[in-house]
Amino acid sequence: AYIRLVRGLTDLEEELAVKLRLERVVIIPGDSQADAAVQRELGRAAAGVLSQYLGDNMTIAVSGGSTMATLADAVQFSAPGTTVVPARGGLGEQVEYQANTIAARIAGKLGGRYRLLHIPDGLSEEALEAILASDGNVRAVADMIKRAHILVHGIGQAAQMAARRGLPAETIREITARGAVGEALGQYCTITGDVVYVTNSVGLRLADLTGIGRVIAVAGGSSKAAAIVAVTGAGGQDILITDEAAARAIQGII
Ligand code: F6P
Repeated sequence: AYIRLVRGLTDLEEELAVKLRLERVVIIPGDSQADAAVQRELGRAAAGVLSQYLGDNMTIAVSGGSTMATLADAVQFSAPGTTVVPARGGLGEQVEYQANTIAARIAGKLGGRYRLLHIPDGLSEEALEAILASDGNVRAVADMIKRAHILVHGIGQAAQMAARRGLPAETIREITARGAVGEALGQYCTITGDVVYVTNSVGLRLADLTGIGRVIAVAGGSSKAAAIVAVTGAGGQDILITDEAAARAIQGII
């Protein structure tokens, strides 16, 4: 245990990259769930990693959530050729945390462009198909999302995200009963990476990620450890930006 304590975060980054089968893991010191300054730091780290991978005229897809909002806060470089799109439409977040809002804010910081998806939450598969078939703008944005060069997204705890989105109590129970512990892009995953429930929407699903150039997940706090293991286990992830609290808790799981 002592050796673990004195070992640097760099070793932990390498260990988790191997165990989670990721190209790269970035760990910042501290606990972003307990300390707002650490959460801002997580956003800064994510903005820094984004700037490293961002080339000219790229399309970036972004998810919503409070962590992604801190990334938007932290972007301090310009990339005028960039187009930012929401990774998915309408997942039931409050306005500040919606992917559309985050996409527009990041585009504003970069001096780039954005394209948004205006789709209500919780539509049936048929209704979504009908919108895609009849609305050329939605179709064009959906195509851009699926061909994004970079996706940056948050990860949340399954039950918490289901509740935050206002899903009915019965559905939340069902999601939990199916063993979901993590959620990303509207997909609820078990600790072994099986997707057991999906919120209908236009845009990316975990299964589509092979078409995306680089997939970057940003999530911190020890309570998200299982969620991070679940979502990375579902596959398609390349880079994880997290904090020490989550990283140490992940180490205890895998
Ligand atoms: O709803 C968008 C989303 O990215 C979810 O997929 C994810 O679970 C959640 O936000 C993370 O939110 P937060 O960063 O606030 O924990």
